[in-house]
Amino acid sequence: MCARQLQMYGGSWTEKKLQILSKYLEAYTKALKNQPFELIYIDAFAGTGYRELPTAGPDDEGTLFAELVEPDPQQFLDGSARMALGISPPFHRYMFIEKSGTRLSELKKLRDSSDLCDRIELKLGDCNDELLDICMNWDWRGQRAVLFLDPFGMQVDWSTIEAVARTRAIDMWILFPISAVNRLLTQSGNIPTKWADRLTNLFGTPTWQEEFYQNAPDGLFGSTGVSRKACDWMDIAGLWNERLRSVFADVADNPRMLHNSTGAPLFLFCFAAANPKGAPIAKRIAGHILEHME
Ligand SMILES: C[S@@+](CC[C@H](N)C(=O)[O-])C[C@H]1O[C@@H](n2cnc3c(N)ncnc32)[C@H](O)[C@@H]1O
Repeated sequence: MCARQLQMYGGSWTEKKLQILSKYLEAYTKALKNQPFELIYIDAFAGTGYRELPTAGPDDEGTLFAELVEPDPQQFLDGSARMALGISPPFHRYMFIEKSGTRLSELKKLRDSSDLCDRIELKLGDCNDELLDICMNWDWRGQRAVLFLDPFGMQVDWSTIEAVARTRAIDMWILFPISAVNRLLTQSGNIPTKWADRLTNLFGTPTWQEEFYQNAPDGLFGSTGVSRKACDWMDIAGLWNERLRSVFADVADNPRMLHNSTGAPLFLFCFAAANPKGAPIAKRIAGHILEHME
């Protein structure tokens, strides 16, 4: 795929997420540059290096393409992988994971043309499989990492989040697909089993049902025991941040809601730190960036 064949976009929510991440990466490598750790940037949905529009496909089930797409494609803009390679001081290593072979071949070109070529590793595969391997099999005592999880939809399993937290070494930025979640939470409470399983897999618990639904009092809605949706965006965001807090050392209290150009919420951009010693300062920096980024 040549860069011209990609449909580029630069909607303000994509701009915002990369600005927030970029600010954090700058602060991170500066703060840790004299520490005895190998610093690694892991991009588990690396894309091509450029920003691009989502295209429907079987792997992207659960994505809300219409809401993700911004009306006016803009100029060629750096995606997360290119942005991360421009951070100064640089990371010691970069790990780019991508499920699509076509997109990975664009990343290969990026690696081969980069001054940091020797520091870049590419992995073709599913982010959950690759991250489980990285989290469980790397020796995290001498390493610290920032992980960026930037899915189009609900691709990240809760077991992956738990594995990241268990490293006690990774700071994680994740786009939580709040719009996709809200859409699966039907008003009637009649949720197809497949959707319910996906929600349970995302939250890592079936308790979302009690949190988001209420049994109607007798006589209402025509029958007894009927459940109705009883949650708003804040409730969904609250449960997700609570779930992160249950496994990470600390979590930013002010995740950023990202909206499309018509004002519809799309993603909640969240930060969690796995290292107990570093978490207070990491949370302070991330919280400051989340609050002050225009
Ligand atoms: C939102 S885009 C990433 C954009 C990129 N972070 C950027 O800023 O340019 C999501 C990417 O994840 C890839 N992807 C989708 N499912 C995946 C999975 N399960 N594991 C790894 N990559 C996946 C898609 O092929 C797509 O390139």
